[in-house]
Amino acid sequence: MPTLFLHFFLFVITTTVTNLIPAVHSNCIEAQKQSLLHFKQSLEFDSSKSSKLITWNSSTECCSWLGVTFSTNGSVVGLDISSESISCSIDNSSSLFQLQRLQSLNLANNDFKSSSIPSAIGKLTKLRYLNLRGAFFSGTIPSSVVSLPKLEILTLSHNRFSGQVPEFSTTSSPLLGTLDLENNNLEGPIPTSIFNLQGLLNLNLSSNNFSSFPFNGPRLPRNLSSVDLSHNSMLFDYNGSNSSFLQIRHLVLASNKLRAFPDFLRNQSILYYLDLSNNQIQGKIPNWILSLKSLNSLDLSGNSLASLEAPLPNSTSALSSLDLRSNKLQGIHSSYSFLQLGHLGLASNKLTTFPDFLRNQSYLTYLDISDNQIQGQIPNWIWSFKLQELNLSCNSLESLEAPLHNSTYVLSKVDLHSNQLQGHFPFFLNSRYLDYSRNNFSSSIPSDIGDFISNVYYLSLSSNNFHGAIPKSICNASCIVLDLSNNSLSGNIPQCLTQSHQLSVIDLKRNNLSGTIPDNFPNICGLQTLDLSNNQIQGKFPKSLVNCSKLEVSNIGNNNIADTFPCFLMSLSTLRVLVLRSNMFYGSIGCPKTNGTWPVLQIIDLSHNNFSGDMPGRLSLTWQAMVSNKDDSPTNLGFSSVVSNKDDSPINLGPSHQLSPHVQCNKEATNKACYSYSGISRSIRETYTDFYYRDTITTIIKGSELDVVKILTIFTLIDYSYNKFNGSIPEEIGELKSLYALNLSGNAFTGKIPSSFGKMRQLESLDLSKNHLSGQIPPEFANLNFLSHLNVSYNQLTGRIPTNTQFSTFPSTSFEGNKGLWGPPLTSDTAIVLPPPKFNGSSSNPNSGDEIDWNVISAEIGFTCGFGIAVGSLLFCKRWRKWYYRAMFNILFKIFPQLEHRFGNHRRHVYINQRYWRR
Ligand SMILES: *[C@@H]1O[C@H](CO)[C@@H](O)[C@H](O)[C@H]1NC(C)=O
Ligand SMILES: *[C@@H]1O[C@H](CO)[C@@H](O)[C@H](O)[C@H]1NC(C)=O
Ligand SMILES: *[C@@H]1O[C@H](CO)[C@@H](O)[C@H](O)[C@H]1NC(C)=O
Ligand SMILES: *[C@@H]1O[C@H](CO)[C@@H](O)[C@H](O)[C@H]1NC(C)=O
Ligand SMILES: *[C@@H]1O[C@H](CO)[C@@H](O)[C@H](O)[C@H]1NC(C)=O
Ligand SMILES: *[C@@H]1O[C@H](CO)[C@@H](O)[C@H](O)[C@H]1NC(C)=O
Ligand SMILES: *[C@@H]1O[C@H](CO)[C@@H](O)[C@H](O)[C@H]1NC(C)=O
Repeated sequence: MPTLFLHFFLFVITTTVTNLIPAVHSNCIEAQKQSLLHFKQSLEFDSSKSSKLITWNSSTECCSWLGVTFSTNGSVVGLDISSESISCSIDNSSSLFQLQRLQSLNLANNDFKSSSIPSAIGKLTKLRYLNLRGAFFSGTIPSSVVSLPKLEILTLSHNRFSGQVPEFSTTSSPLLGTLDLENNNLEGPIPTSIFNLQGLLNLNLSSNNFSSFPFNGPRLPRNLSSVDLSHNSMLFDYNGSNSSFLQIRHLVLASNKLRAFPDFLRNQSILYYLDLSNNQIQGKIPNWILSLKSLNSLDLSGNSLASLEAPLPNSTSALSSLDLRSNKLQGIHSSYSFLQLGHLGLASNKLTTFPDFLRNQSYLTYLDISDNQIQGQIPNWIWSFKLQELNLSCNSLESLEAPLHNSTYVLSKVDLHSNQLQGHFPFFLNSRYLDYSRNNFSSSIPSDIGDFISNVYYLSLSSNNFHGAIPKSICNASCIVLDLSNNSLSGNIPQCLTQSHQLSVIDLKRNNLSGTIPDNFPNICGLQTLDLSNNQIQGKFPKSLVNCSKLEVSNIGNNNIADTFPCFLMSLSTLRVLVLRSNMFYGSIGCPKTNGTWPVLQIIDLSHNNFSGDMPGRLSLTWQAMVSNKDDSPTNLGFSSVVSNKDDSPINLGPSHQLSPHVQCNKEATNKACYSYSGISRSIRETYTDFYYRDTITTIIKGSELDVVKILTIFTLIDYSYNKFNGSIPEEIGELKSLYALNLSGNAFTGKIPSSFGKMRQLESLDLSKNHLSGQIPPEFANLNFLSHLNVSYNQLTGRIPTNTQFSTFPSTSFEGNKGLWGPPLTSDTAIVLPPPKFNGSSSNPNSGDEIDWNVISAEIGFTCGFGIAVGSLLFCKRWRKWYYRAMFNILFKIFPQLEHRFGNHRRHVYINQRYWRR
């Protein structure tokens, strides 16, 4: 956020300065025109991506050239060729440096091929504004740049500059107000001569390797408005004499190596915003820091702070926002009541009770005490704050103290998930976000719930013991996400629910719902996830679901639906997951009359139904996600349900959208794009606060049931097991080059195993057992390098089992029940070849080193899944979740070794995505 602020500031200044320069269109001086044309000629750029340079044409008036600004007398004073996909270096002889009247030069967002800044830039002595952001410059920063005498704004961020920052000369521009060196490889101490820049206001040195900053430097005529030193290697380990004359208003020291509170902070009298997060500070929070005269906002999160020093008598504080997340605090004493906070973050500490000093807070609007170890009741005084956002999730709270005060009904976001709450649950009028999941609430859902939750856009009551029917009034909520899964709800699905225009996610899985699925999805249906699995639902598959043109997940597995294959869904090109498992579907799945495809389909599970007829080869060829052979981006973890708001613009893009707009911005985009973008997303965030929904799909992989929370996008599965499919397996199946798991077990397939299987290079799990397949196991199977689970048992296969190393790792049960099959591991070769001589006492299995110990792996899967259920509520707390996902990934990597290979050092991205999951 502080960087954001700074950037915004920069952007404003940038625009102002650019506007300052008079944009007068008069005839240009011929010499200048020629210089520009020369300059253009010397550049290599992609003319198809250029919008400015292509307009520089000798036969047109130069006043019509884009990106060039002329003064009244016709000389070039401004040049903006940012984002012109230039890819070449420029040197000292470039005609650019003949434009000596330039006041503004913008070369941002190009690729100058890791060249250094030519020192001839010092000739442009009139420059006031220089922007080289994200232009792939490298080398050291020439001192001629920082010595430009008229410079006001210098932006060298997001390049590859290395070495030390040059000394700033006494003749450096007294007007230089903004110096931005963010995200380079600069190192060493910042020279004290930086204070030769008498006019400096904003200094951004973040994301380099700087080791120190001269806080004890000379007194400046002006105060520094903003200093960002985050993501460096600063220590400030000294104590005592380092009093600072520098007065700073906005100071960011986040993500450095601080081990103590730097002493120079004591004399900061105008400090308003201080960020010391993610350092290694231990011990006590000193009392003086909370009483710094002007300090409004203090971020100490991500350190190892254990307590607060007792306050001095008669302390006062101007603090309004205090973030102490992720420390080791056990409490805050009531003597700290002089703090009157608006925003308090205490998540992920070691609190066991509600801190006493909270009682006397009267302005709190945001309180986060999640992920602590608080037991017992939620005190009712907590409701007397003017809270807008309350997060008590991931504690061990058991009940709410009665009576509930009414004054609190302004709460807009309440997160109580993962506690042990029971009894009556509170409704908060005007709330927009209610998460009561993973508690022990066991009543029925009150029939008047709709009166309380009409503004709710996210409602989760999942994983409690709610029973009884789903009240109709629940449709009065303006929900986007409705999650009632994992309860004991019974009765019908209310008609009005499926009629909703707003719902993006309906998750009713694992209940005891009966009746039919209402076939009344509206014409304009925004549904993305429909999960009704594991209920007692009967009847037909709703035809109107085809109206939901954004549908990604349709899971109605484990119900009693008796219908034919929903061919009409073929027109939904967004579908990623279709699970019809364990129902009573019947008939063929050929869909001859439909033309539509599922280009992004990843999981199709039709197992345990009564489907019959051929397995259509043509159909599967249209499933691009399974056919295409190109690697998905490793950051592209998991299909996500992007939840849209009412006017259809996407909000909080889940992990499949990889990077948040901010991150994207900080890397590449221009200032402008960045800000209009984040501007939009922020205003949306204010109304809808970000959230997204975790889809969970239960799949059977390699014989073990695995609940995958979020699916790897590159993960693909076809499960047609236990139906009545017959005929031969189509040759086209080999085109599914990205398929990971194929299960055709328990059908009536006949004929040979197609040799095209050899083309499915990604295949890791293949089950063809219990069919009537005949002929040999095709030798092409030797190509399946990743195959780690194979089952061809109980067919009529003949011939020798292929002898490559891969096959020697499969157990004999993979091949049993085939009368004509022979060779290891089924029958020993001893009948034909002489047995190898036995050595005394030593094991003789040459392959034992390569063997995958499936027992261990399945035990581990069982453990993780079992554990996931056992610690259910803990899973969604940070500590456990970290562990769980790590375990989960390790298992996924073990099951699908090449994921590991593909991810390589992209594990970090996986981690990043997990961070999104935490929001
Ligand atoms: C300049 O413009 C003329 C006429 O508009 C065009 O024919 C010519 O190709 C252009 N030259 C360049 C270098 O783009
Ligand atoms: C809360 O409001 C309800 C009805 O609006 C009223 O019956 C109840 O007495 C109020 N409770 C308190 C504690 O004020
Ligand atoms: C939904 O709200 C409207 C008014 O806001 C009310 O008339 C209607 O009875 C409510 N429906 C249910 C089922 O509670
Ligand atoms: C599910 O509902 C049926 C009636 O529809 C009832 O007989 C059964 O006991 C319920 N099962 C559970 C586990 O609540
Ligand atoms: C499949 O159909 C047969 C009759 O054709 C029926 O007896 C059987 O119960 C059905 N099985 C399932 C799982 O629906
Ligand atoms: C294939 O499906 C059957 C039935 O669902 C299951 O028992 C078996 O374990 C699956 N095979 C693999 C390799 O996952
Ligand atoms: C509440 O806190 C938990 C744990 O710190 C976090 O995962 C969750 O996202 C927070 N809830 C909201 C609504 O921000």
